[in-house]
Amino acid sequence: MNESPKLIIGNWKMNGLRAGTHQLMCEIVQRARGLPADVRLVVCPPFTQIERAGRILRARGVGQSIVVGGQDCHMSACGAHTGDISAEMLADVGARYVVLGHSERRQAHGETDALIRLKVRAAMSVGLVPVVCIGETMHERQEGRAASVLASQIDGSLTSDFDGILAYEPIWAIGSGVTPSRDELERTLYLLGGLLRSRLKKDDIRVPILYGGSVTPDQAHAILSIRSIGGVLVGNASLDAQRFMQIAEAA
Ligand code: G3P
Repeated sequence: MNESPKLIIGNWKMNGLRAGTHQLMCEIVQRARGLPADVRLVVCPPFTQIERAGRILRARGVGQSIVVGGQDCHMSACGAHTGDISAEMLADVGARYVVLGHSERRQAHGETDALIRLKVRAAMSVGLVPVVCIGETMHERQEGRAASVLASQIDGSLTSDFDGILAYEPIWAIGSGVTPSRDELERTLYLLGGLLRSRLKKDDIRVPILYGGSVTPDQAHAILSIRSIGGVLVGNASLDAQRFMQIAEAA
């Protein structure tokens, strides 16, 4: 049973300049006013827009119902890492969460489970909530290897004291318009719960499990009505305030 709030996380990816951020954030704030107290929005713009997004939220007295997050962080606290952003830098501009291990970074930047685990440690060390993404490819799914892939990613990407959020993002669902059936998602969530208990070596885990991959208003209720789901991680639909809110209202 999830007592924690349903999390609706918007991953803007590499989208959002000043004017667009201002307009989208103002519209999200306006539309979020009627959201139930047990729903929390997390907006993850590109690093350059995090402070601006947070400033808009504070100026409108949003409180904790809408917060900002980052899309990645470096594993080190500081040093000779040209172009990288540390977890502390994210926290310094107001981020409360950070997405780590997104499949687009695992693929494009060769991020390994071991590297993601170091990033998790860095994020937790400054009080950021890590949102660790895992997911199988269509090929792994068709070969019946999804469970072993997810188990390996959980064992490799999470620290033994992990105190964050797990996001199940089947790679074949990201940007494809295709999502798993409700039954398939419920089975996967059950599997992930068992894998988490094994990895963290305790039964009463408090790790919310989110779903990400082509989440739209059309099937948001079917996904968010699953008792064991902790929320959703939304990509493309989070760039449209109305669609993002329609998803949140389905929680
Ligand atoms: O992190 C969420 C993202 O990967 C999902 O993207 O566009 O399929 O909702 P999208």
